Amino acid sequence: MSNSVTLTDNRNGKQYEFPILDSTLGPSVIDISNFYPTTGMFTFDRGYTSTAMCRSKITFIDGEKGILKHRGYSIEWLAENKNFLDVVYLLLNKKLPTKEELGSFKQELKTRSFINEKMIRLFSAFPDKAHPMAVLQACVATLSTYYSRDMNFDNPIEYMELAKRLVAKMPTLAAFYYRHSMGYPLIYPDLDRGFTENFLYMMRSFPHSRVDLKRIEVKALDSVLMLHADHEQNASTTTVRTVGSTHSHPYSCISAGIGALWGHAHGGANEGVIKQLEMIGTVENVDKYIKKAKDKNDPFRLMGFGHRVYKNYDPRARVLKKMRDELISEIDIDENLLKVANRIEEIALNDDYFVSRNLYPNVDFNSGLILKALKIPTDMFAVLFVMGRVPGWMAQWMELKEQDTIKIVRPRQLYIGPKDSLNENNE
Ligand code: CMC
Repeated sequence: MSNSVTLTDNRNGKQYEFPILDSTLGPSVIDISNFYPTTGMFTFDRGYTSTAMCRSKITFIDGEKGILKHRGYSIEWLAENKNFLDVVYLLLNKKLPTKEELGSFKQELKTRSFINEKMIRLFSAFPDKAHPMAVLQACVATLSTYYSRDMNFDNPIEYMELAKRLVAKMPTLAAFYYRHSMGYPLIYPDLDRGFTENFLYMMRSFPHSRVDLKRIEVKALDSVLMLHADHEQNASTTTVRTVGSTHSHPYSCISAGIGALWGHAHGGANEGVIKQLEMIGTVENVDKYIKKAKDKNDPFRLMGFGHRVYKNYDPRARVLKKMRDELISEIDIDENLLKVANRIEEIALNDDYFVSRNLYPNVDFNSGLILKALKIPTDMFAVLFVMGRVPGWMAQWMELKEQDTIKIVRPRQLYIGPKDSLNENNE
C-alpha cells in the first residue's frame, strides 16, 4: 500500500499497515476501522481529540488558521452577503437558494411554524423556574410523538419535511416557553413577518399593542442564528449522529443534542459569559478573576475563552465582535459589561497563560452581550443557540441517513476495573 502508515509494535516487532484517506481540505486520516481485528488492540483517544467520527461534506474548520466554511462558503462571506435562512437552505439542500427558491422556502417554513394546540398543555407540567433548555429538550422529544406514525425515515423527501418542520417550529416553542413561564398570553406566529422577526414579535408582543421592532435588532439576531448554524462534529452534533446511528426518531436525536448543548463547556457558555461578566462587575475586578482563571488549583475558567478546535481567534467571534461594536450606537448594549469584556479580552490576548495555550475568545464571548441587548432573558441564550443549530443538526442527520450503510456508534474502552471481585486475590 503506497498511501498508508506502518505501525510497529515495539514489544514484538510486528508491523501493521493502515490506509491513509485523503480529505479535500484539512488533515488526511488513517483508516483504523480494522485496527482491532488486525492488531487485537483498541486505540485510546480521550475526548476524541484525534478521531474523525464520520465523512462529511457539510462544514469545514481549520482550527489553526481560524477558518470556518459551510459547503465551501466562508462564514465571513455568508455573514456579509446572506441571511440565516439562506444558510439553512444551504445546509439542508447542499446549495444556496435562488431568489425564487428562497421565497418558497420561507413560505414553507411559515406554514409549518404552528404547533399542535395539545402541545401547549405540556408547558403547564413544568415548574415556573424550569430551565428552558430542559423544557426545549422535552418539547422536541414530545414533537416526535406527533410525527412518528407513517413516517418513512428512509425517504429523503420525508427527511426534508421533518427538517423544515423542526426549523419552523423552534422559534414558536422557544417563545411559547417564555410567555408561559412569565404568565403572558401566547402570541401566535404572524405569517406576514419574516422568520427571525417573528421570533422577536412572539417574545415581545401583547394583544392590541403594536410591538416596535428595529430592523437592526432583527438583523443582529439573524446574524447570531446564522453564526451558530453548524459547527462540524462538536459534542452535540456527535450526540445527534450517535443517537441517529441507532435508527431512533430524528427528533429524539435532536432532543439528545439539546441535552449535550446545554452544558457550560458547550452551548451553555453564552449564559455563563454574561453571568461571569456580571459577577466580575467592574473593570477594576478583572485582574483578580484573570488570576483565578490561571490558578491550577481553582476550577474557575474564563467563560467564552478557549475552544477544542480553534487555536486561533474563532472566526464567528470576530464577526460578532464587529457586529457588537456596530450595534453600540443603535441598541442598548450594557456599557459596563462591555467595558469589562473588552478589558478581559485585552489582558487575555497579551497574557502568556492564554497565549501559550491558544485561548482566544470563542463565539459565546460576544453573543451574550448582543442577546442581552436584544432583551433575551439570560437563561434563554442557549435556546437561541439551539434555534440556530437545528438546521445543522438536521443536515448532519440527513447526511448520516444518506450513507449506504449506517454503522451503529459503539466505541470500546480501556478497562481498568477489578479482574474478578469474587476472588480475593484480585491481582
Ligand atoms: N479559562 C482558563 N483556562 C482555560 C480555559 C479557560 N476558558 N480553557 C482552557 N483552559 C486551559 C486548561 O486549564 C488547560 O490548561 P493546562 O494545559 O495547563 O492543563 C488548557 O487550557 C487546555 O484546556 P482543555 O480543557 O484541555 O481544552 P479542551 O479543548 O478540552 O476544552 C473548552 C475546550 C471550550 C471546553 C475550554 O476551553 C473551556 O472550558 N472554555 C470555557 C467554556 C466555553 O467558553 N465554552 C464554549 C466553547 S465554544 C462554543 C461551542 O462550540 O459550544
